Amino acid sequence: MHALVTGGSSGIGAATALAYARAGARVTITYNTGTDRAAEVVARIEEEGGEAAAVHLDLEDHATVAPAVAAAGPVDALVANAVRWGTVMPGSVAFEDVPAAEWSAALHANVVGNALLIQAVLPEMRRRRFGRIVLVSSGAAEEGQPGPGPYGTAKMALHGLARALAWEAGGDGILVNVAVAGLTVTGGRHPIPQHVFDEVASRTPTRRLSTADDLAALIVFLGSADNRNLTGEIIRDGSNAGRSVHIG
Ligand SMILES: NC(=O)c1ccc[n+]([C@@H]2O[C@H](COP(=O)([O-])OP(=O)(O)OC[C@H]3O[C@@H](n4cnc5c(N)ncnc54)[C@H](OP(=O)(O)O)[C@@H]3O)[C@@H](O)[C@H]2O)c1
Repeated sequence: MHALVTGGSSGIGAATALAYARAGARVTITYNTGTDRAAEVVARIEEEGGEAAAVHLDLEDHATVAPAVAAAGPVDALVANAVRWGTVMPGSVAFEDVPAAEWSAALHANVVGNALLIQAVLPEMRRRRFGRIVLVSSGAAEEGQPGPGPYGTAKMALHGLARALAWEAGGDGILVNVAVAGLTVTGGRHPIPQHVFDEVASRTPTRRLSTADDLAALIVFLGSADNRNLTGEIIRDGSNAGRSVHIG
């Protein structure tokens, strides 16, 4: 098994790369700006006896997609985890004031960039009649949240992409699913205050938020041969219930 994990230089992607390696897979991660962080993830996998490599990918620069896939070589599993978060923070700009350039950039990177990435790996998956594709989405897509409309809109587009592709590629042994992360504890490259984590955690069924390792376990299952015939599904991680369920 060779897994290509985009955004493997950080957070959920790094945890997913480690989890794949621990399950015996060879892993290629992509990084954008985090060259050193990517090297650390590769080194950690190698220290544990695994096989890993890192390649550059910038979803905003579509010219980087083909070279990244070529450098990785044929893959059995693609995890489309990398994200362009966007420049519009929740509450900072009214919906009607979000610039057109921000809408375009969010869709250009997170939808078209991932579509091109999938197009680049599909022919070899079809030829080998095996493939697993996991798209990492956000509860912000389905539940909504004030502020980053372009981000949630782009993530929701990936749900449609996954459902279409599941039909399109299923006959060639390629399974396509979406792993929906809720608010996830990744070790903190974000400005979200602790009280927000505590509040959301208190309203989940398990009263805790998922960690990056929790997401990684879900993603590796969906993106492995252990997933035998589950496709076109939108799988919501436990952290997602926080905003929609009212207790008491
Ligand atoms: N963390 C959460 O609470 C949460 C909640 C819901 C959904 N998610 C989803 O889970 C996934 C991972 O989130 P995370 O929290 O682990 O993110 P993160 O720690 O911020 O890591 C983001 C990754 O994406 C890469 N990246 C950023 N811009 C890119 C670009 N233009 N082209 C290619 N790669 C780019 C980064 O690369 P460099 O660092 O190398 O630049 C990094 O590896 C994302 O799809 C996110 O939407 C996360």
